[in-house]
Amino acid sequence: MAPLHVGDIGLVNLSLIAAVSGIFYIAYKVVYNVLFHPLRSFPGPISHRISNVPRAIQMMRGHLPFHVADLHREYGPVVRIAPDELAFSDPQAWKDIYGHRAPGQEEFAKHKGFYRPFDAMPTSIISDPREEHSAVRRQLAHGFSDRSMRGQEPIIGEYVDLLVQRLHANAEGGKKAVNMREWLNWTTFDIIGDLGFGSSFGMLASSDYHPWVKLIVQTVKQSGQLQALINVGLRPVVQFLSRNGFLKSRDEHRALVRNKLSQRIEMGAERPDLIEGLIATHKKDEKAMPFPKLAINAGTLIVAGSETTATLLSGAIYLLTAYPETLSKLTHEVRSSFSDDKEITLFSVANLHYMLACINESFRRYPPVAFGMPRQVPKGGAQVAGHFIPEDTVTAVWQYAANHDPNNWKDPMGFHPERFMGDPGFKTDKLDALQPFSVGPRNCIGRNLAYAEMRLILAKIIYNFDLTLADESRNWLEGQKAYILWEKPALDVYLTPAVHS
Ligand code: HEM
Repeated sequence: MAPLHVGDIGLVNLSLIAAVSGIFYIAYKVVYNVLFHPLRSFPGPISHRISNVPRAIQMMRGHLPFHVADLHREYGPVVRIAPDELAFSDPQAWKDIYGHRAPGQEEFAKHKGFYRPFDAMPTSIISDPREEHSAVRRQLAHGFSDRSMRGQEPIIGEYVDLLVQRLHANAEGGKKAVNMREWLNWTTFDIIGDLGFGSSFGMLASSDYHPWVKLIVQTVKQSGQLQALINVGLRPVVQFLSRNGFLKSRDEHRALVRNKLSQRIEMGAERPDLIEGLIATHKKDEKAMPFPKLAINAGTLIVAGSETTATLLSGAIYLLTAYPETLSKLTHEVRSSFSDDKEITLFSVANLHYMLACINESFRRYPPVAFGMPRQVPKGGAQVAGHFIPEDTVTAVWQYAANHDPNNWKDPMGFHPERFMGDPGFKTDKLDALQPFSVGPRNCIGRNLAYAEMRLILAKIIYNFDLTLADESRNWLEGQKAYILWEKPALDVYLTPAVHS
């Protein structure tokens, strides 16, 4: 064996000191988090009160929303899911965390760790600080007004008619199952491509994914996993990956947005689409809306407005076909309300009340945004659902968990649109626990458009086809993973052309 040199002994000592200090630091953190932390009195599993690691592991595995639901069942409506973080399932928490605040009271800010994972990126409407957010929201609001929606109706209607036509061509009269997850994704992405950039992705026409859409889905999943790294203190690693070209799907997505946006700008601002207001500001005053800021907002619209609606529609088709009595009641409503397919429009579908109840119950069972949108408690602390919460605590309502909490809903794992129709059998339900679009100043700007688009697509499908779930998709919901969005398996359904009397 080679003899040890003086330098080697120094190195051994240093390593020993580092190891012992590490152990002391961890022991100190454990004792502090359990016995002295300002959140020490809130319930939760000991592992989660001590460390961020268990939360991060569940996030990486795509199980976090279901895990939080289990924790609420075990510990009640407020749970400490990480040393500095509380999850709430009481409906009052929606108002307290996300709602408009009284004059003089500071808003709960969006949690930077979640909304701004990359230091070098400009912010979008989703991640803008409060003052910047109000200006961008005002500019975008025009594209989401009733007047703009009237202008958008023919654009949306054209894609939905193309969907029905393509389904007729592919369903072979009900003999061959079609994968509705894909058709719905292609439809909502084509619509948002047109409303956001002035041209679709051409997916309905080609019956195939545009490579960009695959990139978007990958990017969103990757964001969820990067969040887990940030949660366990590895933010510098995420910055390193971002700066050195390791996040390829995100970089390619951004390059495609810039390209497509440049084409849209050349078309001029006079178009009743969603981006018109921002382009008008950009053209008037480049400083107020520089190109990188315009691009990041356009990319946000594409992601926020497509995968979400496609997810809800997939969930609704699955749940309706899994509960044939409910489907038959809805089919009756749709077919007795219209005597011709052409009468079904973005606006006429607003009269389908049972359909709205079915969509809301689908939102409850399969919320497109299943996770908690984290907000930080302002200086001085604040009350949330009757509890005083110290400043800087990360707080959120986790939609999947609140929507399946037996304290909020009767038979939470069932599918009962009747609960939204005033059925006395469900009078103990807390309907305001369901907030799929969030509430307050940062709620979803696309809410009305999304409801109208989803009702139109569902009404056209149900008017034109009898739906039967294929055996392979019978357990579609089981074992699904949810990162920031859901990872949905194929949804195979037989579509038989309807016979109208
Ligand atoms: C089923 C469909 C949809 C669901 C469930 C949904 C849900 C949400 C939620 C929960 C938020 C709040 C996010 C947060 O606090 O971090 C949000 C924000 C937003 N959504 Fe949606 N959304 C849907 C459809 C759409 C559509 C169709 C568009 C646009 C075409 C859209 C554009 C936006 C934008 C721009 C924001 C940011 C608003 C702001 O911060 O002022 N969404 N959405």
